[in-house]
Amino acid sequence: MRSINIGLTDEQRAGVIDLLNHDLADSYLLVVKTKKFHWDVVGPQFISLHKLWDDHYEAISANIDAIAERIRALGGYPIGTMKGFLDYASLAEHPGNIPMATGMVSALVEDHEQIVRNLREHIDGCSEDFHDQGTADFLTGIMEQHEEMAWMLRSFIEGEALNANGARPEFSSKEPVTV
Ligand SMILES: [Fe+2]
Repeated sequence: MRSINIGLTDEQRAGVIDLLNHDLADSYLLVVKTKKFHWDVVGPQFISLHKLWDDHYEAISANIDAIAERIRALGGYPIGTMKGFLDYASLAEHPGNIPMATGMVSALVEDHEQIVRNLREHIDGCSEDFHDQGTADFLTGIMEQHEEMAWMLRSFIEGEALNANGARPEFSSKEPVTV
């Protein structure tokens, strides 16, 4: 078969493919964890979180497909087994642990933040170590999505931090605050 001639060496492509497989594995774990909380959440925020996690599930699933197909476009093969995803992921599963809604949100914020940190490193690796600006750009878009998903989830937790006056702690001083 004709070799791939897109200005990257085999070593550069292999390096990028390995980074992408790590991101694929983490995305797979996150999509499972997101779906589980979509099912299990209870409490006054049920509908909001149930729907939000459905949206996140759809977005992460689309990214999974895009990451896997980018691996193929670079001549590699995506991980395609659950064991492979578990072995390659940096996220951890917590079987049997069903926290309250706030705990679920907090756990997913941590997972999204972990993925953002990983992606930031991988973006630098793609452009600086492997000369692949295309994948760096591709991963930058995905990182921005996780930053936004983390922000949405973080906002739920911050909503829990009401003080006795019903004001958010950062706005509870006597000084007038303009926002
Ligand atoms: Fe559902």
